[in-house]
Amino acid sequence: MLSEIGLIGLGVMGKNIALNIAEKGTFVKAFNGSQEKIDAISEEFSGMFSGFTELEELIDNLERPRNILLMIPSGQPTHSVINQLANLLDEGDVIIDGGNSFYQESENHGNILSSKSIEFIGMGVSGGEEGARHGPAIMIGSANNLSDELVELLSAISAKAPNDCIGFYKGHGSGHFIKMVHNGIEYAEMQLITEAYYLLKYAEYSNIEIAEFFESLKGMNQSSYLIEITSEILRKKDGEVFTLDLIKPFANNKGTGKLTIETSFELGISAPSIYAAYDARVQSNAGDTWKKATNESEDTKLELDHSFNKIINESNLSKALYFGRVAAMVQGLKIIHKYSEVNSLSINYSDIFNNWSGGCIIRSQMLDELLEIDKTAEDFLKSESLHNLLKDNLSVVKDVVSSSMLNNISLPVLSSSLNWYLNISSSSNPSNLIQAQRDYFGSHTVQLLDSEEYIHIDWRENE
Ligand code: 6PG
Repeated sequence: MLSEIGLIGLGVMGKNIALNIAEKGTFVKAFNGSQEKIDAISEEFSGMFSGFTELEELIDNLERPRNILLMIPSGQPTHSVINQLANLLDEGDVIIDGGNSFYQESENHGNILSSKSIEFIGMGVSGGEEGARHGPAIMIGSANNLSDELVELLSAISAKAPNDCIGFYKGHGSGHFIKMVHNGIEYAEMQLITEAYYLLKYAEYSNIEIAEFFESLKGMNQSSYLIEITSEILRKKDGEVFTLDLIKPFANNKGTGKLTIETSFELGISAPSIYAAYDARVQSNAGDTWKKATNESEDTKLELDHSFNKIINESNLSKALYFGRVAAMVQGLKIIHKYSEVNSLSINYSDIFNNWSGGCIIRSQMLDELLEIDKTAEDFLKSESLHNLLKDNLSVVKDVVSSSMLNNISLPVLSSSLNWYLNISSSSNPSNLIQAQRDYFGSHTVQLLDSEEYIHIDWRENE
């Protein structure tokens, strides 16, 4: 195990992962500009901590080869600290970026530092404050193998399920890439749960009854960390009022889901469930475009189509929720698969499922089921067992989405997931007309069914 580690960044995540590290027996030497902050947290470390208010002082007090963990906001703050360290560290030292950095920035940081023979490790950390303190899921991206001592420490602080929830991926940006996709799936899972909650509210379930619905999913092997915390959120009261009912219906984000979508565009991979989840957050802040023309306003109760209460029930919603979650997971895995192919990384799904089996925000019983499928499948994404998870729930999802549309209830992710599945599982699609239109106005050519050749057709000449 490493005897000591340098740490820059004593925010919520930084402090908690440092406590986790110290608890495993590695001495933490931290930089922070505020002596007051250093003093305020020192005693929590039971003697396994010292703080420095000057960066150079920290560097001088670390044994070589130095290992320095950055737990600071991604983007410019991380970039600026790495640039400073690049001029202070020596060959063989190691910088570990544990923030939510964009994978391309991590590739850039890795290249800058490699030119100075300083090792860069991009480390995706998932699990929030609780995870950082007691066991996050850790996604490591590095150009070279880590030292045995560092592997031992990072494995020791990771979540156990019961295996170490840590993955090691080739490439400076690969750890942050996997974490980014994790966040895209997280957005979709959060929105799907919210859509189920929304439908049950329309079906006049109380918050307690909705919490009970989510709790019942555990018995069906369909629960997850996000589903469990949703039950707790639904039960929380503020006096006689449910706290959830006091919160404005606007969702913010720090952009990690957006980066997943932008990357899916770059890689040419369809991820409509993840896009719809991000867009739902954007739309929630769009404000009132038109007056409430499609659902109940203050004085009129929405007259629900008679089918609604027959279709919107716990059994159907559990199936629809699972369908959407599988769809979002498959889309996320396709993004990872394409990135792995393009970079010749041979990332395998079992490593991903193992990595996310504990500690992370999207940990779930579904991942255990997917791991079992992957163990026996020739090609996981093409396996019938995986396909059945979608096909078997299709008719219910069509009923739920149709009934919701008939009642003017928007289900961004579930409806996108249904459309995505109907399209990829259909033997036909109408894109021949798109190609013809492009050729008509831009001579972009078409391929006829019986040929690989691209040809232009003179559409204005009608024989
Ligand atoms: C995790 C979370 C975390 C995420 C924040 C904010 O894996 O611990 O995904 O890293 O960045 O929860 O996420 P938003 O993008 O929703 O602001």
